[in-house]
Amino acid sequence: MKIGLLGCGNVGSAFVKILIDNGDSIKERIGENLEISKILVRDLNRERDPWINTELLTTEAESIVGDPEIDIVVEVMGDLNPSKSLIEASLRRGKSVVTANKALLAEHYFEIEELAEQVGRDVFFEAAVAGGIPLIRSLRVSLVGERLSRVTGIVNGTTNFILTRMHEESLAFEEALAMAQRLGYAEADPRADLEGYDAAAKAAILSSIAFGMKVRFQDVLCEGISNLTAKDVEFASRHGFVIKLIAECARVQYENSQRLSVRVFPALLPATHPLSSVRDAFNAIFVEGEAVGELMFYGRGAGGLPTASAVMGDVIDAAQNLHYGSTERRLRRREVKVVPLDALE
Ligand code: NAP
Ligand code: HSE
Repeated sequence: MKIGLLGCGNVGSAFVKILIDNGDSIKERIGENLEISKILVRDLNRERDPWINTELLTTEAESIVGDPEIDIVVEVMGDLNPSKSLIEASLRRGKSVVTANKALLAEHYFEIEELAEQVGRDVFFEAAVAGGIPLIRSLRVSLVGERLSRVTGIVNGTTNFILTRMHEESLAFEEALAMAQRLGYAEADPRADLEGYDAAAKAAILSSIAFGMKVRFQDVLCEGISNLTAKDVEFASRHGFVIKLIAECARVQYENSQRLSVRVFPALLPATHPLSSVRDAFNAIFVEGEAVGELMFYGRGAGGLPTASAVMGDVIDAAQNLHYGSTERRLRRREVKVVPLDALE
């Protein structure tokens, strides 16, 4: 199977590394050789990690999307465009797609799913929410028979890293942010993390999948941590609390009907709360269902390698589906009434 890689930054480069390190054992396990044919980048002169074969680099998207030999396109560029048009063009030309792009999915998830359905190809996006944690597949496949009531937790690694360092080391906000950027956790524009937009995009995707309803980024009530100061953190600590950025998608009873409330907000949690011990770029998500009860997913929510691990899982699924001629089961969608927080108070 030939792979066209769109992007070779934190996640793209880590994906290449995993394939180099584990390619033989993957081939042994799935009976399929995965090979990267070309890699799209913006700047051919940028210094790359030593394991990147620079001969595969191109700035011509058409040489990937239009290559009939390429079976699977992996989009790890970010931004809405040209990612959206390249994903659509890839699907139309019969390729399966794997993406880590939550900003794109939070706006266009249903359109992209519908196109994939029309052309009979897969779109997988495990890496778009909670990095290396296998959450999307669990919601989409394992828990599809559940009536879920709530999905809530920490889904942004950068803000959790900053808050941890402010609490534990009294680090200044800017210093902690610079560390998160160096470690490859932050978005290209870190305001996406700090203002809660990244967590809101993830909450929209989680709601769409967990509740089978159309929830978009702009439906999510969102407040980030950019206004928090060292004083707020110190005040919380002194009183036995920890500040965490929480994303919550929950069924609520509102005026005799069931609605969905989707929001992102900084919360004061007692230091003994299970989410309070989630440190640095780790994520933790509670899923509550009527039959299954409460589940907790925990792991590395950001960073090149954990995210690329989720991308690799998707690529293997897509390769196997192409090999055996099947596609992912599709879930039916309903329109949702998203309730603003003030309407609930
Ligand atoms: P990144 O380090 O900024 O890498 C982006 C890559 O895409 C770079 O190689 C860049 O080329 C290339 N690129 C961007 N725009 C392009 C364009 N218009 N044409 C051609 N190439 C272009 O980003 P990242 O951290 O790897 O994140 C990639 C995606 O994964 C994003 O959607 C992000 O939200 C998502 N994600 C990231 C993480 C994480 O922890 N980093 C976790 C989960 C999901 P150059 O190298 O030439 O600049
Ligand atoms: N910037 C994101 C975060 C990357 O910090 O969680 C992982 O989605």
